[in-house]
Amino acid sequence: MTAIKNNLSVFSNGDPANQPIIFVHGFPFDHNMWHNQINALSGNYFCLSYDIRGLGDSPVGDGQYTMEMFTDDLIKIIEAHKLKKPVLCGLSMGGYIALRVAEKKESLFSALILCDTKSGADNNDAKLKRAEGIKSINEAGVKTFAEGFIPNCFAEESIKKLGDGYRQILQKSSGFSQAGVKGCLLAMAGRTDTTGFLSGIKIPVLLICGEKDKLTPPHVMEEMEGIIPDSEFHIIPGAGHVTPLENPAVVNKIIKDFLVRKH
Ligand code: MLT
Repeated sequence: MTAIKNNLSVFSNGDPANQPIIFVHGFPFDHNMWHNQINALSGNYFCLSYDIRGLGDSPVGDGQYTMEMFTDDLIKIIEAHKLKKPVLCGLSMGGYIALRVAEKKESLFSALILCDTKSGADNNDAKLKRAEGIKSINEAGVKTFAEGFIPNCFAEESIKKLGDGYRQILQKSSGFSQAGVKGCLLAMAGRTDTTGFLSGIKIPVLLICGEKDKLTPPHVMEEMEGIIPDSEFHIIPGAGHVTPLENPAVVNKIIKDFLVRKH
């Protein structure tokens, strides 16, 4: 079911009486990133996904975003759906949002699933790359930016394997609004570092990373596993940065096993 809640496009699948899971997508994608997981899990879980402000079907507004606005959006979705102790699952930018929202209100959640993400904030090089991205969008548009950014997110073998699916993703992202995509880049550049929170996390955390992830390589998440008390880390064979789309069979099994053990 699709609904507009707090001005965002929210998608729900499954029985609302079941344990809820909220899926937060990465950049510059939309909720469709999770379609394999939602298909696999919605028989037993109430699955909620949404399009982050400025991306997918959610409104762009003025494009002036902060990570705090993204976390407030997520809290409002939880409140609007009266979700009790959802599992929060985020990939990359979705993981930045998940970590920050858990840092602010950990008691809202029963577990975290963090895919291809990190707790560190942008260093100077990363900030300069964001600035280059914004310049490229201003000069050449979102399509050119997406064509430069997205291939780097996938393992080469996944691009071949996904074929038309990959081309559809690229086409969809290429059509996102300039203000929305630039707003997300600025929000990520300005986010806080959540590393200090990791050692104090009380809920169980599942960490997943693609073997060939160039943006957040496995060693980054392995370090997180070393710090988070109740955590486990899995490397996804053959996948780059977008593990849920690149190797859904393995990702689904790991998530299902984690949920059964922790719920
Ligand atoms: C993402 O996948 O959400 C982005 O690559 C994150 C980032 O650019 O830091």
